[in-house]
Amino acid sequence: MTVAEAEAELARLAEMLGRANAAYHAEDAPEIDDATYDELKRRNAAIEARFPDLKRADSPTDLVGAAPADGFGKIRHSIRMLSLSNAFTREDVAEFDARIRRFLGLGAEDRLAYTAEPKIDGLSLSIRYEDGALIHAATRGDGQTGEDVTANVRTIADVPARLDGAPALLEVRGEVYMSHADFAALNARQAEAAAKTFANPRNAAAGSLRQLDAEITRARPLRFFAYAWGEVSDPLADTQTGALDRLARLGFSVNPETATCDGPAALIEVYDGIAARRAELGYDIDGVVYKVDDLALQARLGFRSTTPRWATAHKFPAETAWTRLEGIDIQVGRTGAISPVARLTPVTVGGVVVSNATLHNEDYIAGRDSSGDPIRDGVDLRVGDRVEIYRAGDVIPKVRGVDLSARPADALPYAFPETCPECGSPATREPGESVRRCTGGLICPAQVIARLKHMVGRAALDIDGLGDKEVERFHDLEWVLRPADIFTLQRRYGSGVRSVAALDGWGETSAAKLFAAIEVARVQPLARVLFGLGIRHLGEVAGRDLARHYGSWDAFAAGVDAAGPAAEAHRRAEVAVAAERAEAAAEGRRAKPTDIRATVWADVEPEARAAWEEMVGIDGIGATLALAICDALHAPEERAAIDALLAELEIEAPEAVAEASPVAGLTVVFTGTLEKMTRAEAKARAEALGAKVSGSVSAKTDLLVAGPGAGSKAEKAATLGVRMLDEDGWLDLIGEA
Ligand code: IVH
Repeated sequence: MTVAEAEAELARLAEMLGRANAAYHAEDAPEIDDATYDELKRRNAAIEARFPDLKRADSPTDLVGAAPADGFGKIRHSIRMLSLSNAFTREDVAEFDARIRRFLGLGAEDRLAYTAEPKIDGLSLSIRYEDGALIHAATRGDGQTGEDVTANVRTIADVPARLDGAPALLEVRGEVYMSHADFAALNARQAEAAAKTFANPRNAAAGSLRQLDAEITRARPLRFFAYAWGEVSDPLADTQTGALDRLARLGFSVNPETATCDGPAALIEVYDGIAARRAELGYDIDGVVYKVDDLALQARLGFRSTTPRWATAHKFPAETAWTRLEGIDIQVGRTGAISPVARLTPVTVGGVVVSNATLHNEDYIAGRDSSGDPIRDGVDLRVGDRVEIYRAGDVIPKVRGVDLSARPADALPYAFPETCPECGSPATREPGESVRRCTGGLICPAQVIARLKHMVGRAALDIDGLGDKEVERFHDLEWVLRPADIFTLQRRYGSGVRSVAALDGWGETSAAKLFAAIEVARVQPLARVLFGLGIRHLGEVAGRDLARHYGSWDAFAAGVDAAGPAAEAHRRAEVAVAAERAEAAAEGRRAKPTDIRATVWADVEPEARAAWEEMVGIDGIGATLALAICDALHAPEERAAIDALLAELEIEAPEAVAEASPVAGLTVVFTGTLEKMTRAEAKARAEALGAKVSGSVSAKTDLLVAGPGAGSKAEKAATLGVRMLDEDGWLDLIGEA
């Protein structure tokens, strides 16, 4: 090949691959198949290798890895987009109502209205209007930040471009969906064009909304139901019913099945009615959403970490299907938990093809629950069995039943592994636990990889472009073995023959993008870092609670270090108490746990004790979590890995949201009877204002709110000189008198 031929060929390949990329990313009309595409790319790379000087500025090599989703900008929701708690049975619905009444201090006979609305099975969307003009629209994303799909949403006929008589600022929220008829027609068109067809209307709606080219979205028949709102400059109404009416008057589609009900019995009636008409609605729904109608009560009820207290989704029963259990795979998780996964002959359940299902743990396979009682009438699961699979909502499919009459004669009981299939370490089961765990810790590659994935995941460091596949690859190459390595990747593999850009499937552009995302991820709020450590029992909520309490990594680590001896004492005491209980039971006498605890704790220095009590005193942080934290930070290797990571990060000061509140940062204890609100409401309100609510009075307590009948806590507070207020004084302080 001459230089001139090479140059011409590179130009031709750049053109072809560029066109193929565009067609592929627009998804509708891929012009060449994957194998041809790869072949062209290899040819291009080979010519470039021979004639490096001819490499074009627009070389296709550098374009690889630029995922289409990168094309969407991000929008931070001014008010978080939440999900809903679930109810599956009538009892769950009764409990939902009872919980709300308890929170609000209402009796069973007090009137309490709800709305019941179909739960549309689509994707949620938030659309922002300012002075009546559509400003932007975003998908839910992780609830905090979604994708900017404004151009696409402007093509949806159900979404008004202008509103007349709306509040100056209004964020309308609802569901984008596709009707059954439109879905069938779209799939027929796609099939005719030899393009990708969709498994169900939800996927079709998602695929259509997330198109980089809005003209493709325009050709897709998307619809929208409004059912909620985010930021508003003036309230829409006093009730949910009123707000939906208002949205309808503003030109939005509001679901016509929506009803206002007078209590749980009426809700169930609406649910049964909607369930009976489900097939005739013409679009997919997966349940009925119940909401407290009175918006003032909604405000009082507020939110848990990710769901409102004032709403729940009553789900339709799960869809099921029968298939064959082909095999049982074993996965090792980040905390060493060994999880069996069913490998199934693929089967469609509720519109989705299922080929895996969770099998939970060895007891579940054996037909027992965690307390040893039979499940599935005590029938075990064997490879080769015909099994019934079910799927409720988005959850991982599960195995419900076994058809014993179809069991192959040679099917053997499943022997659960007692060593880790990944690293060979013993897999042990602690007393009272249903899960077997690999004891390999950081020597187990599966645990290390799972921890890395967790660390870079969306709720933790959230590094764009570093997904499961990439983590596995970098780990296999031994480029990233612990979290800190991510942040030195560019220094070590930023250029040269052994570099990220030189890897198959990567190029300069995608590598540069990854390095940029890693740089962005260096600055992190403490809560995300704590969650990202992957410590057992330390979830997102606990991460936030700990961050709010300690405020900085140094304060947190100092607290954990100081608490070390107390954590040990706690563990020793629990072991001794369990032994004493067993002995006492055998001898037919009463155990004396209090004495034992006192003896063990007598040796613990007051500083250690205070640090431990401070940690377990944080609302939501119990002894189990505190122990897991101490274990993780006191294991030398783990601590070294954590310290190395922290040296790479810059931890942001905790959010200053509640700074303006007069009780922000204060540790508050409520005691006695509160008369204007329930204890649960008082606690939720105080936390929303940035206070820490504790159950016990200590030297750390800033404020005791005492109602009538306050006893020992008030006495202790008085001895310690803690500031005390009655309920009215508290309401006065927080400006709600
Ligand atoms: S209300 C703060 N109402 O269900 C509560 N959600 O599982 C906001 N959904 O993310 C949600 N129909 O995508 C509400 N009538 C309805 C709904 C509905 C469907 C979806 C929504 C939400 C998910 C929660």
